[in-house]
Amino acid sequence: MKTILLIHGANLNLLGKRNPFHYGNLNLRQLENLVKKEAKSCGLKVKSFHSNHEGALIDYIQQNSFSASGIIINAGAFTHYSYALHDALLDAHLPAIEVHLSDIKNRENWRRKSVIASACKQVISGEKEKSYYKAITVLKEIIDLKA
Ligand code: DQA
Repeated sequence: MKTILLIHGANLNLLGKRNPFHYGNLNLRQLENLVKKEAKSCGLKVKSFHSNHEGALIDYIQQNSFSASGIIINAGAFTHYSYALHDALLDAHLPAIEVHLSDIKNRENWRRKSVIASACKQVISGEKEKSYYKAITVLKEIIDLKA
């Protein structure tokens, strides 16, 4: 079974306590478990990681990309300013899908811009946990095409 990395950035450990209008009601563990289940039904294994620290996310990508076939990343607010994370994704040479629970295009102006999007194959946002399910489908197609 091919492995994909499921990476969460700043403040996403507080899911379940954050504004449910934007982020839904699931906590991070529940969300990760649902994504794992969905991925398994597509024949993919998920390795998950969360950090509130930009450097820890970069270290994780550098240390784990060699043994993975793709990445699903919700970088939280790092999405909007971390050029270092953009470069880490680019250097991983893996298909990556950027996901968001909330609709980042229809919130504050500063959220509209993603600096990591150009290192990703697709951005899927605004559908809460369904954003992740869609990301799995897209990633699976890309991985199968490469095989
Ligand atoms: C988020 C959107 C970001 O703008 C925000 O900083 C987050 C969560 C989302 O999943 O909707 O923390 O990535």
